[in-house]
Amino acid sequence: MSIRYLEKERIFWLDTPNTTYLLGIVAQEGFLGHLYYGKKLEDVTGAETLLRTSEPPYVPEKNDRDRSSFFDAFPFEYASHGVGDFRESSLKIRTGRGHEAVSLVYLKHEIRRGKGKLSGLPATFGTESDVTTLLITCVDPVTKIEAELSYSTFERVDAIARSVRIKNGSADPVWVEKVMSACLDMEGKEFDVLSLHGSWARERQMERKPLGHGIYSVGSLRGESSHQEHPFLGILSKNADQTSGEVYGFHFVYSGNFLAQAQRNQFGQVRVQMGIHPEAFSWKLASGESFQAPEVILTYSAEGLGGMSRSLHDLYLNHLIRSPWLHQKRPVLINNWEATYFDFTAEKILDIARESAKLGIEMLVLDDGWFGNRFDDNRSLGDWWVNEEKLRGGLGKLVSEINALGMKFGLWFEPEMISPESRLYEEHPDWAIQIPGRRACRARNQFVLDVSRGDVRDYILRQMFAVLHSANVEYVKWDMNRPLSDLGSADLPADRQGELSHRYVLGMYEMQERLLAEFPNLLLENCSGGGGRFDPGMLYFSPQIWCSDDTDAIERLGIQEGTALLYPLSCMGAHVSVCPNHTVGRTTPFSTRGMTALAGTFGYELDVTKLSEEDKAAVPKQIRAYHAYSDLIREGVYYRIASARETRDYDCFQVTDRGGRKSLVFFTQVLATPNMKSRCIPLQGLKKDAKYRIWQVNLDKEQMLTDTGKVASGAVLMNAGMILERPWGDFQGRLLYLEEI
Ligand code: GLA
Repeated sequence: MSIRYLEKERIFWLDTPNTTYLLGIVAQEGFLGHLYYGKKLEDVTGAETLLRTSEPPYVPEKNDRDRSSFFDAFPFEYASHGVGDFRESSLKIRTGRGHEAVSLVYLKHEIRRGKGKLSGLPATFGTESDVTTLLITCVDPVTKIEAELSYSTFERVDAIARSVRIKNGSADPVWVEKVMSACLDMEGKEFDVLSLHGSWARERQMERKPLGHGIYSVGSLRGESSHQEHPFLGILSKNADQTSGEVYGFHFVYSGNFLAQAQRNQFGQVRVQMGIHPEAFSWKLASGESFQAPEVILTYSAEGLGGMSRSLHDLYLNHLIRSPWLHQKRPVLINNWEATYFDFTAEKILDIARESAKLGIEMLVLDDGWFGNRFDDNRSLGDWWVNEEKLRGGLGKLVSEINALGMKFGLWFEPEMISPESRLYEEHPDWAIQIPGRRACRARNQFVLDVSRGDVRDYILRQMFAVLHSANVEYVKWDMNRPLSDLGSADLPADRQGELSHRYVLGMYEMQERLLAEFPNLLLENCSGGGGRFDPGMLYFSPQIWCSDDTDAIERLGIQEGTALLYPLSCMGAHVSVCPNHTVGRTTPFSTRGMTALAGTFGYELDVTKLSEEDKAAVPKQIRAYHAYSDLIREGVYYRIASARETRDYDCFQVTDRGGRKSLVFFTQVLATPNMKSRCIPLQGLKKDAKYRIWQVNLDKEQMLTDTGKVASGAVLMNAGMILERPWGDFQGRLLYLEEI
């Protein structure tokens, strides 16, 4: 078993293939302390001494006079609140008498094979042979609050899943005011912190800075994981780069408000925490009731950022995404959003479908505007019936005609929303999230539906199911286009209003679960104004998420780099669109756009009937490359070679098959630089003693592969590098294919 308890030393010893995590119980009082997380240890003799520092006054049971000195420096496994540790706490409980202090001590533990579900929440999973779980129950002897800390280790992936369940063991109700899902107290090394920031159309941009004294935090109070900050934190040794150095990654399997923070204290020690954001959160627990906090993924890599990315990718591919589509080639789709926006009819959609079918596109996705009175974005969300003014003859007819062309059909919904101008709002104004007497804030002229309510969920799902049963719909794009504000639910009593944002997320998860139960083979793609809810929680339901509304091939380099830092390429919704690009006005070569989309799920988002003959002719060639390489891209191993953020003029990454026999190299020259003959790029993930032939993949020529005439050993390619002749001009992509000979 990869989790052991050393009875004499009172140490829990957790192993993954290349890492070890140690925590222990401190004698007498029974505090849980953190000992170590890092490279795998084959022998842990003496580790317990790390906790029991012998010099007074830091031994709690011996020296009560200086108890605060102990509390304020001890590496707690899960931090107390209000009793002398003045760093950020992990848990805050308000009792009926108004007190908030909690201090947890060890009560019991259990080690089991496998991993249980987290009630109502997405979480990693595994079988009895590939996951082991440690459950440690702690108790606060005064309030009788119990915390069950859960740690799951994976047999084949360097990741540990942590979560916490709080139980009210007292006779009276209490309110959980803060519950972090994981806390890691680390030694005071010099670290950098890495996070992802963004905005609409500019999601997941990497930002690295030194971790100084005080607190560095990122979070969301938008009710979704957000475009702006991502539920991820990386703690990096100063020398960490893509291939070397130490990297600790923390990633939250949750889609609502979050807080992720790293705190360096007076002694240089670092405490990292992640959990539901305590602001706008308060959860009432009656006597005997429990609260399950979502899961945090911890990963440690001694091989730089690349090691972390690959561990997370492996974890999500093997232990998080459940869709039957996970390992299947996804149909090449065409989405009509950038082609028509709201201005379409069934005839227009059929024109696009007919032309698409001729070019080899396999699925048509009808985006926003097909329902209610939806001629623009001011109305009708919540009125999920077909607009027959646009779709004459109904959805069934349109879909059969599209199916007759040999294409599948997909449909857009925004189920969590309600327009003030809708039949739904006329009938149920109290179903919108708002506070009585306060004018609720509109965003895109819409309100958020209170999906914390069972009746609201039932109603919306009934409508969705009716539409989906009325035609052969094989794909759904589930969108969510505004954040939550004016938190008020007509259904919750005063002392439970603080539960709304979390109940909302639980309600949304339940809706997706029911949708998938009703349509088990549905290909679901999540979306939130682009990539505003791209997080591991949503991946539990959908194998792919729309990355960003920005479809510009150059902007996408940074967005997809930040996304691929954490997520497998097969999750990233990516499409070819027209130029000048609708978001940034840039014109890029059609082949560069094709190459950037190939590094994701691949599809088109344009009016194919209006494409130039030249671009149209390139579509089947891009699709040919998709069919040739989608298995490699979907199932392969990702290596980041260079980032345009750092090089300023080019971006490069690689996908290699699991055996290191085949590899695709994606190179994009962002800006041409004069008088530079070549560029030597060190590759990764190859076999050092194998020889590789190098081909150029053509996305616009009759012949797909051109032999470059080059053959090189893996050792040369990985150490000396591969010479790549610079393309001519800005925004030029070059796709190379290497195969062992
Ligand atoms: C969001 C999505 C887009 C599109 C529109 C439709 O912005 O990200 O892809 O579906 O909504 O309103």
